[in-house]
Amino acid sequence: MDVPDIIIAIDGYSSTGKSSFAKKVAARFGFTYLDSGALYRGVTLFAQEEGLINRVNSVNPRLSNELLSLDLHFDNGNRTYMGQRCIENQIRTMEVSAQVSPVSAVPFVRSYVDRKLHQFAENGRVVMDGRDIGTTVFPDAGLKIFMTASIKVRAQRRYDELVARGEMPVFEEVVSNLRERDYLDSHRETSPLRKAEDAFVLDNSDMTIEEEIAWVQGLIQGKFGIR
Ligand code: DC
Repeated sequence: MDVPDIIIAIDGYSSTGKSSFAKKVAARFGFTYLDSGALYRGVTLFAQEEGLINRVNSVNPRLSNELLSLDLHFDNGNRTYMGQRCIENQIRTMEVSAQVSPVSAVPFVRSYVDRKLHQFAENGRVVMDGRDIGTTVFPDAGLKIFMTASIKVRAQRRYDELVARGEMPVFEEVVSNLRERDYLDSHRETSPLRKAEDAFVLDNSDMTIEEEIAWVQGLIQGKFGIR
């Protein structure tokens, strides 16, 4: 299937399977995958390591200056790097998850990530997942998808992911972390999580990834008149 050179924006709640879906879409159509959440996680890890965020989630304004030289990027396997160091595993821990929402609510952090995303997407043909890609970062994206799923399904996915990483999560804590992030992500002042008016909704509570791919393929065929 010959898909035009568009940007595909995939937004939605945490643990709705956005990144698995986005990666599959990218592989299917020969696009580059960009994980915007990984950049927010990278900034959060950096702030924690530099002592620029405290336990009550207050971010030190000095972070703004430090971001000028923070080199976050991805390798060919979609792994996240801070300079030479691979931080892919570290940014997925509960510790980082617990502070990423307040960090991502800070306007100068959002500008930093937006700048990086525009830089990485310069050559087009990208699939990007996040919270505000279709509403704020790329409002003119050629295709916008908004993902959702029931809280139970989402919590189970996140729980399984953490177990696979060798952590020992408590299911109820995973649920409350998700609820808390849903609230913070959709109520913050700067680019809150919301569905773009022209986004297509994908509720994958009861869908397999293959069904999701078949769905998006049909969507693209219909939208761009591809036979
Ligand atoms: O997709 P994720 O769970 O890795 O994202 C981590 C956090 O980053 C999430 O709680 C909200 C924030 N985020 C955001 O505010 N905007 C984005 N485009 C992507 C992520």
